[in-house]
Amino acid sequence: MTVTKTIPLDAQGAWRTEAYSVLEAGGIIGVPTETVYGLAGDATRSDVIDSIYAAKGRPANNPLIVHVADLAMGERYGLFSDTARRLAKAFWPGPLTLVLPLKTGTGLAAAVSAGGDSLAIRCPQGPLGDLSMSLGRPLAAPSANRSGHVSATSAAHVLEDLGGRIGLILDGGPSRLGVESTIVDLRGDPQILRPGATSSDDLAEVLGAVVALADDAEDAKPVSPGQLSSHYAPSVPVRLNVLPGQVLDDEAYLGFGKHALEGHQTLSMTGDLGEAASRLYGALRDCDRPGVMGIAIAPIPADGIGQALANRLQRAAAPRA
Ligand code: TXA
Ligand code: MG
Repeated sequence: MTVTKTIPLDAQGAWRTEAYSVLEAGGIIGVPTETVYGLAGDATRSDVIDSIYAAKGRPANNPLIVHVADLAMGERYGLFSDTARRLAKAFWPGPLTLVLPLKTGTGLAAAVSAGGDSLAIRCPQGPLGDLSMSLGRPLAAPSANRSGHVSATSAAHVLEDLGGRIGLILDGGPSRLGVESTIVDLRGDPQILRPGATSSDDLAEVLGAVVALADDAEDAKPVSPGQLSSHYAPSVPVRLNVLPGQVLDDEAYLGFGKHALEGHQTLSMTGDLGEAASRLYGALRDCDRPGVMGIAIAPIPADGIGQALANRLQRAAAPRA
């Protein structure tokens, strides 16, 4: 078993040399991004990609997002249309992932795209971009949780899920946004595969047209395998749109705005959707404790980042496969 070391992302920058040498040597590390923590490794080495899948316990048919330092690095691996370029220029570095035709013969490990002919690319905020720039290579990074768990939004969550399986975690404090990037498929008419921290309104503003939400529920095989309905599930049943008076004795309640219950958590006392997003995964993890037989969640409006919240909550509440 590996000893997992956590080091702070401080201004001194000792983390930089340490993280660089682990990645250079083919190791994998837990790294903060503005959305959630990622589990990063060199996207050009198939042994590294295998170890990412193994550490997460992730099925091999579920491709990874590659994280690049900038648009120029992205263009080496994916085929950008004008629309893709426009979105990258508007939102990178930031919480938007583009699914593009994969360029061949670039040296990217085939397992990154799970052997498929498309590639999910994003340029994140935080240390991943810097590290990728220093290495001169993209970093594959799924969320740093065990497969099937909710994403990690703190270094402690990463340690909880992956401690003993990875050597290094960079601690950048709680994730600023707290939900994953929005994934847009640009191989045909733009389609949102996963609502996320970039809202559909923000996308529409840049593109001058509303971007449709892919209805993966109707597909026999979801376009993003990670979007299977019970993917973001805690270990106990989850009920949505529950008012404080309807909470059962052995349930934990997650309040929102005026719907709150004494002795229970609230995602945002003031009804702020951004605050609720940043707290959701931590709150779900806190509810996964002995004695809690279910999680009841207050109504949350599906506007802006609330659309991503609604998506994750529906998945958390979906019947288990
Ligand atoms: O915010 C985020 O996107 C975080 C941070 C770490 O960057 N990453 C993240 O990665 O959420 P992951 O692996 O947990 O989720 C990636 C999703 C999965 O649902 C996967 O199926 C989908 O992206 N995906 C990856 N490559 C794809 C592709 N070529 N086509 C369609 N979906 C893809
Ligand atoms: Mg994930």
